[in-house]
Amino acid sequence: MTTPARVPAPTLALSANDYVHGYSSHETRRLTDQADTLAALLHSDSAYPVGSKVLEVGCGVGAQTIHLVTTSPEAHFTAVDISSSSLAEARARVVAHAPGAHVTFLQANLFELPFPEAEFDHVFVCFVLEHLAAPRQALTALRRLLRPGGTLTVIEGDHGSTLFHPDSAYAHAVIDCQIQLQSTAGGNALIGRELHPLLTSAGYQDVTVRPRTVYADRSRPALVNGFTRNTFIAMIESVREDALAAGLITPPDWDRGTADLHRTATDDGTFHYTFFKAVAVNPPSATSAA
Ligand SMILES: C[S@@+](CC[C@H](N)C(=O)[O-])C[C@H]1O[C@@H](n2cnc3c(N)ncnc32)[C@H](O)[C@@H]1O
Repeated sequence: MTTPARVPAPTLALSANDYVHGYSSHETRRLTDQADTLAALLHSDSAYPVGSKVLEVGCGVGAQTIHLVTTSPEAHFTAVDISSSSLAEARARVVAHAPGAHVTFLQANLFELPFPEAEFDHVFVCFVLEHLAAPRQALTALRRLLRPGGTLTVIEGDHGSTLFHPDSAYAHAVIDCQIQLQSTAGGNALIGRELHPLLTSAGYQDVTVRPRTVYADRSRPALVNGFTRNTFIAMIESVREDALAAGLITPPDWDRGTADLHRTATDDGTFHYTFFKAVAVNPPSATSAA
């Protein structure tokens, strides 16, 4: 088997503040496909009590918000994101699909949220820590907003968990490009495996982390389309220009790698990925974050 050529000394064009996936309509579709396809896997065991106050941090276009309000229709949600355009889409999505839901939207940076201490019973964070340069500090800041005994739920992926057939060094190389670009932008596409130590070091207790495995083959066509093609491969393909501009890979090797990824979504291909879902408690005795 030949292997992809290594391009030496990459010069990366992204700034530390760039959000690696961007805010395009393509990304909106990818996030909603992801959320809808994975709803049972990620949300089936999350329900918030009647009247509880829940903060969703980094709600994006509301792809997870819809599932949260459906599972917990009598909870009161506050959904925040730093992007005003994403929030506008989130609001429209909730109005269209869950008009009676109790959701307040707010544009804000999660590090500077304008809420008093212990304001919320629960905090929910999905696919956000992976984009932050300081995830532990974010978790500490969010703990301040939780009442003592309140819970934090975090869901993150880990691109190092991909296993597929047929295996291909070119496919792994294009995935590595995405991992490198996200790292250069200050994030961590391998953060799922770190959730337990991150939450513990941020002062949470009773931390439980459970892997949530997605496995797709021809017997699960909805997962092949909704996850392998429209979520994972679409995410990798979206960074093509950045990967080439940064000199991380040559165009022929990129094209070979993405073609090999698509091969895993054909009738004799298989694809595996693991998400990590953590639930942790703000210590009952906590009065303020560390
Ligand atoms: C991958 S999207 C996930 C959106 C949503 N949670 C979901 O699962 O579909 C990450 C979101 O985090 C938001 N975000 C990143 N940094 C943020 C910050 N410092 N404060 C608030 N939101 C932030 C981005 O604007 C983006 O909408």
